[in-house]
Amino acid sequence: MPKHFLTILDIPRDEAKQVLLRAKEMKDNNVRTNLLAGKTMLLIFEKASTRTRVSFEVGVRQLGGDPVFITSKDSQLGRSEPLKDTARVLSRYADGLIVRTFGQEKLDTLVEYGDIPVVNALTDEYHPCQIMADMLTMYERTPNLDELKVAWVGDGNNMVHSFINGAVTFGYELSIACPEGYDPNQAIVDRAVDLGAKISITRDPAVAVSGAHYVNTDVWASMGQEEEQKKREVAFAGYEVDETLMAKADGNAKFMHCLPVHRGEEVSESVFEGPASIVWDQAENRLHMQKAILEWIYKN
Ligand code: CP
Ligand code: NVA
Repeated sequence: MPKHFLTILDIPRDEAKQVLLRAKEMKDNNVRTNLLAGKTMLLIFEKASTRTRVSFEVGVRQLGGDPVFITSKDSQLGRSEPLKDTARVLSRYADGLIVRTFGQEKLDTLVEYGDIPVVNALTDEYHPCQIMADMLTMYERTPNLDELKVAWVGDGNNMVHSFINGAVTFGYELSIACPEGYDPNQAIVDRAVDLGAKISITRDPAVAVSGAHYVNTDVWASMGQEEEQKKREVAFAGYEVDETLMAKADGNAKFMHCLPVHRGEEVSESVFEGPASIVWDQAENRLHMQKAILEWIYKN
């Protein structure tokens, strides 16, 4: 049976720490391997991407494999060829699928009908590769992840859903502030709490960030929600991460953002460009972490 990485919970808790350490080792030693020699990884992207696409293409090459990039626009996916047919065809050419798409159920279809590993490169529900990279970014500064308070200010979107799963695996306390109507999916929260995660949800950003070691946010309208931008700007008023809000966090708190950013919306220019911001390390760590995730999948 192929191994898949659809959410952070696919990596058993006792293996997740090893993946983190391996990503750190890959970063520190500029590791190149031949693990994927002779293997072709298909990147199927139905949404735009800079970081995820390029870090996967580069990472696959650094592990000796060949990446092939397709989009729905230039394949039969865009002309409604069923995903279950696409999955069976592509399984005969390639050794893995790295997929950015809309509903998570599309990945489930690829898993069901294909017979090669599937990696989630972002769905409407989750962004597990990003949050695993964010774990590395936090770990580099504060190795005891289970002693941290992580704050999320903004939309209850794919990013926070993966932070919720990360709270199960890595044990940090997660405090979420969202406007009414923009909460994270309750079933995802409930499952994480059942698995032991420490999660709280408030309407007050100041409560969420109080004493936090890391303050996270993301755009108010994700890809596919562009037409809601104006409505969301109204709903999210008061949820900008600015200097006043950061001052309520731990004295050494860091600001995190997966990028791309909307300066002056979810975060002020001064926080984003200021000394607490670690966003470029986050972006770099995508490469190292994704190599470690691919190794977790392909190494016997
Ligand atoms: N953070 C992130 O996933 O960026 P891209 O959309 O550029 O891949
Ligand atoms: N929540 C954002 C993340 C982009 C990397 C989106 O889905 O558009």
